[in-house]
Amino acid sequence: MGYTVYWNNKTGELVPVYDYDKTKIPTNDPAQVYTDDAGLLSKGFIPIRPGFRGKKLHRWRWGLETFKSRAHDVSVVETKNGMTLKFFQSGFNAPKNIISCGSGTKETTKIFDGDPIFENPKSTSLLSRLLSIGGDKELVALDFFSGSGTTAHAVMALNAQDGGNRKHISVQLDEPTDPKSEARKAGYKTIFEITRERIKRAAAKIRTDHPDATCDFGFKEFKTIPANEGQFAGYMDDAETMEDYTPFNGMALDDDGIQALLTTWAAYDGLPLNQSLDAVDLDGYTAFAGGDKLYFVNSGLNIKHIVTMLTRIDEDPTFTPRKIVVFHHRFNDKQLREFSEAVNAPNRKHLQLEFIQRF
Ligand SMILES: C[S@@+](CC[C@H](N)C(=O)[O-])C[C@H]1O[C@@H](n2cnc3c(N)ncnc32)[C@H](O)[C@@H]1O
Repeated sequence: MGYTVYWNNKTGELVPVYDYDKTKIPTNDPAQVYTDDAGLLSKGFIPIRPGFRGKKLHRWRWGLETFKSRAHDVSVVETKNGMTLKFFQSGFNAPKNIISCGSGTKETTKIFDGDPIFENPKSTSLLSRLLSIGGDKELVALDFFSGSGTTAHAVMALNAQDGGNRKHISVQLDEPTDPKSEARKAGYKTIFEITRERIKRAAAKIRTDHPDATCDFGFKEFKTIPANEGQFAGYMDDAETMEDYTPFNGMALDDDGIQALLTTWAAYDGLPLNQSLDAVDLDGYTAFAGGDKLYFVNSGLNIKHIVTMLTRIDEDPTFTPRKIVVFHHRFNDKQLREFSEAVNAPNRKHLQLEFIQRF
């Protein structure tokens, strides 16, 4: 299976030529084993030969006849040793592992003081490599299956190394740990408790290893709640009959409920998850500012608060809400009418404001 394939790099034509002197194989010298075809060389063809495997002359995967009948399944590829041929097998071509997926068990166990808390975590080196593809130092890594938190760890470590500002969103199902597992013995009742602890420990370690790093090692924790249960019963109304209908009672939301509503709205309005809303005191009434929005979710609003808000928008160049978002359930009809009229009054000198009611 030794022969030379002449390649025309302009037309892609491949011409196989049997020029292989078997008696010269022991010399391992291509110049003796192969004979150049002067005619093809003069036409600009480039000779491609099998090269070496180790120190010995190698041979092609296919014999000359197979090559001739399947030349369309052969491509020319460039390697560090020059051009070579790639032969496509028919049928199943087993996928090749291009990234080693080595386990990060040792690494994770070390972080948890020797406790093998998590089975088969990925290694931070693998995640760092994946995160480095494309070179974006501002990326947001979204890991829906966070497990032991390797992605978060790798994001923080990379930022500390190169001053990047990558962020991570680490999602973990509220899955209990196996009652017989090392994790449970160590006191972790859910996988998420492991995720959270890993992120804290990794951040502390990276801070120690990189005392000059200025990147943000903090994180915020969000929990999803059913949108149609508990105090949010009726909020996402999927009733098909009147008997199924549950009226939503917005007045019944407690502080946590209001916080959940604001978090949902802020995310819906495109505010980054790591940005908090600012509480704004309007002469005794608290509204919440984020981006170009001012959210009104508390009851107890009267005209005095509205005037304070409008005056502040007019006079304070740093206070720049443009959309007034009102939680309908917390206001009566009269309040809503007055609020909307004040915001939309045609003789106002400030920029146009938008009045939005949400239910
Ligand atoms: C193989 S582990 C991930 C390991 C992780 N890459 C590491 O290095 O530790 C998969 C994780 O996904 C979680 N998981 C499974 N289904 C999920 C879902 N629907 N949403 C969020 N997490 C989920 C499991 O609880 C488990 O922790």
